[in-house]
Amino acid sequence: MARSDLLISLVKAGVNGERELLVRTVEAMIAEEHGKQHHVLAESLAAQLRAGQNGNGMTKLPDSNNRNLVHERMPERKISSLFLRTEVKTAVAQLIEEQQRADLLRSYNLEPRHRILLTGPPGNGKTSLAEALAESLAIPMFSVRYDALIGSFLGETALRMRQLFDFVRNRRCALFFDEFDTVAKERGDTHETGEIKRVVSSLLLEIDRLPSYVVVITATNHPELLDRAVWRRFQLKLELPKPTLGQVTEWLRTLEGRLEIAFTIKHSILAKRLYGISFSELEDMAQDILRRRILCEPCDHMAITHSIIRLRTEAVHRERLSSDGYPATTNISNSRSGRARNARPRRAKNSISSTGATRSTDRPATSATGASVRSSKGGGSTSA
Ligand SMILES: Nc1ncnc2c1ncn2[C@@H]1O[C@H](COP(=O)(O)OP(=O)(O)OP(=O)(O)O)[C@@H](O)[C@H]1O
Ligand SMILES: [Mg+2]
Repeated sequence: MARSDLLISLVKAGVNGERELLVRTVEAMIAEEHGKQHHVLAESLAAQLRAGQNGNGMTKLPDSNNRNLVHERMPERKISSLFLRTEVKTAVAQLIEEQQRADLLRSYNLEPRHRILLTGPPGNGKTSLAEALAESLAIPMFSVRYDALIGSFLGETALRMRQLFDFVRNRRCALFFDEFDTVAKERGDTHETGEIKRVVSSLLLEIDRLPSYVVVITATNHPELLDRAVWRRFQLKLELPKPTLGQVTEWLRTLEGRLEIAFTIKHSILAKRLYGISFSELEDMAQDILRRRILCEPCDHMAITHSIIRLRTEAVHRERLSSDGYPATTNISNSRSGRARNARPRRAKNSISSTGATRSTDRPATSATGASVRSSKGGGSTSA
């Protein structure tokens, strides 16, 4: 049985002869039936709509050939597996609740939010969060395929864009635009042709027209490239920065659990040495350790783990030196016994060793991007 608000608007559309309302309502019913796995009913509603539209000059409903404009998959990643700042976690939880209790909101003439923009440097969870959101809502994730969407002929991209949106409009799904700047560039860019301006305009229009059961998630590493009009389309704008010192510390704790060993170095000291790298680099390091431990059997797991971590901290250290000329970590070989804590602060120029360096304790460590550890320390809680 269809939702009561849809039935009411169906009757209203019929009584008043409102075609647009009729199409929108039936599209919502199709999406709902797809969501309940009633595909036969959904397809037969779609067929009825198509038949009616063909006869009276209304826009044609797309057929399933437009499926090639997206990669479809059932999401698996869980939100709880991600380290997110408290503000992000709260905002995401609220959006999920709005989507899950949309019927209640609609009974008060309100719609749940469904347009999300994720920004932040590479490897810090934009794609992962998009997937986790879809997973929490138990909806399929459609990632837009730019190779199929962007055509070389004039008008082709705008046409395919329309087909893409027509395809998702009657499905309950998450529509994911990764590297959103690819299609939503600033229209004032003098290098761009009239074509890209048309594409951006029709993209924004289509996003506006999407029903709230289609959750549009966009992600970019270059928010500064986005067209100004893009920003206000998104009801939720979330930044996913590099991990804070606290998050690196927490991440190391979970790594210990995964590796089933106890580090001989304090987490907080190790975290300072790794501070500045992304979550994906941290994960790469974990994968390296796991691979080496399997392939070197029988071997000393602790030694392998420490040597891979040491290599990574040295790389971080070199990067810091090249970016701000100031080393910010203590030597990896210092252990929990307290050697690191007792080490006398030294000036940067004296402190570089082959494996790391000591820094003055009254100076906040700086990341590769120059961000202050102290200022970002309170940047948010973590979850594992
Ligand atoms: N916040 C996070 N918590 C836990 N793991 C993370 C987090 N962010 C990233 N990772 C790890 O890094 C990998 C890559 O992350 P993801 O692809 O989501 O980053 P991204 O921000 O989309 O990067 P890009 O801008 O390059 O597309 C993930 O598969 C995951 O293992
Ligand atoms: Mg990504």
